Amino acid sequence: MSYARALRCRKCGREYPVQPLSLCDFCLSPLEVSYDYKAMAGVVSREKLAGGPLSMWRYRDLLSVEGEVVDIGTGFTPLVKADNLGRELGLDRLYIKNDCLNPTYSFKDRPVSVAVTKAREFGFDTIACASTGNLAASVAAHAAKANMKSYVFVPSNVEPGKLVGIAIYNPVLVTVDGSYDDVNRLCTRIVERYNWGFININLRPYYAEGSKTLGYEVAEQLGWRAPDCVVAPAASGLSFTRIWQGLDELSMLGLIEPVNTHMYLSQAAGSSPIVNAFQAGSLHVHPVAPDTIAKSIAIGNPADGYYALRVVRQSGGGACAVTDEELINGMKLLAQTEGIFTEAAGGVVVGALRKLAASGVIKKNELTVAFITGAGPRTQETVSDIVQPFTVQPCLESFEEVVGVRV
Ligand SMILES: Cc1ncc(COP(=O)(O)O)c(C=O)c1O
Ligand SMILES: [Zn+2]
Repeated sequence: MSYARALRCRKCGREYPVQPLSLCDFCLSPLEVSYDYKAMAGVVSREKLAGGPLSMWRYRDLLSVEGEVVDIGTGFTPLVKADNLGRELGLDRLYIKNDCLNPTYSFKDRPVSVAVTKAREFGFDTIACASTGNLAASVAAHAAKANMKSYVFVPSNVEPGKLVGIAIYNPVLVTVDGSYDDVNRLCTRIVERYNWGFININLRPYYAEGSKTLGYEVAEQLGWRAPDCVVAPAASGLSFTRIWQGLDELSMLGLIEPVNTHMYLSQAAGSSPIVNAFQAGSLHVHPVAPDTIAKSIAIGNPADGYYALRVVRQSGGGACAVTDEELINGMKLLAQTEGIFTEAAGGVVVGALRKLAASGVIKKNELTVAFITGAGPRTQETVSDIVQPFTVQPCLESFEEVVGVRV
């Protein structure tokens, strides 16, 4: 049994029964799952949560699912104390949440695990999504596990390694000649015609819920406390809002002290509509045409930009954009200090962290968590210039001559 009691409109507060629906009929604002927190507080405790499975499903009581979950082994990823990177950036208490280590190599397995579970509850036999790449891989993998059919839609310029990482699960893979925003527009037409569970359209309220587990896990891994600062990437902005909500809910349930976390959002400069709005002092996002190598977070018209900006403002945080060169340096720096190979979205986070630390916005002694949400090996072309091996003949003389070492 879950403690979800309704879907509620984020703007006008109107409530709807729990169903596959993402927008309010009256004001067209997004719906979110609303819970009976009082009842929930009666059953959750630090001890009970800590005794749960070593996956995101240890927080099942705080999510909106009813029956058996579709679980491919997602979550409870390492929170690593990043002393080497911290030294480089001038931060004494830096942690990396390494969410590359999910089954399909990105944090998307969290929201998808919840959304596919709900899709099955609602009786869908087919699931679908509009994706920049990572979501499609996760949806296809969960469909395989749940014995469901899947249709996944991505822009045709998605990285080749990402396509393989999707196709291996045997979905119906559709590449669309256009940007992610074009893909999304097409999918909003398809959802009207076919009775499919679109993970990030008609199932979006449930999809959103899964990312709260990022906040829960970090707080638990820090010994039941919220960080002072969070740096996270944003595409639609949805997961950013849910990291914050996850922390906030834990304090509402009395599991951690009141949350005082400053939330810093990061985007690639070539696709930074949310950062642009922040810099203009506005809560309203003007769409852009993305042009960046950080394709997984290249969304020009972010559905949750307004809400992400509200979280930034409410938390006393900020927003920061980094160039493609800066994000590549960020990818290399993370690998070469902490041994973590992230994709471009993680490079954006490290690049932003560097700027925020250098400018004194994030202070040396603040407990800071950087969210690394996707793994590097499927987009190797981004940093392929790093490969400069010594080429030697298979004899000691050649090795010593070319590499230049001497005993
Ligand atoms: C690796 C990675 N990080 C972060 C994000 C941002 O997600 P959101 O749309 O919730 O802002 C994405 C979205 O595709 C992603 O693939
Ligand atoms: Zn409404």
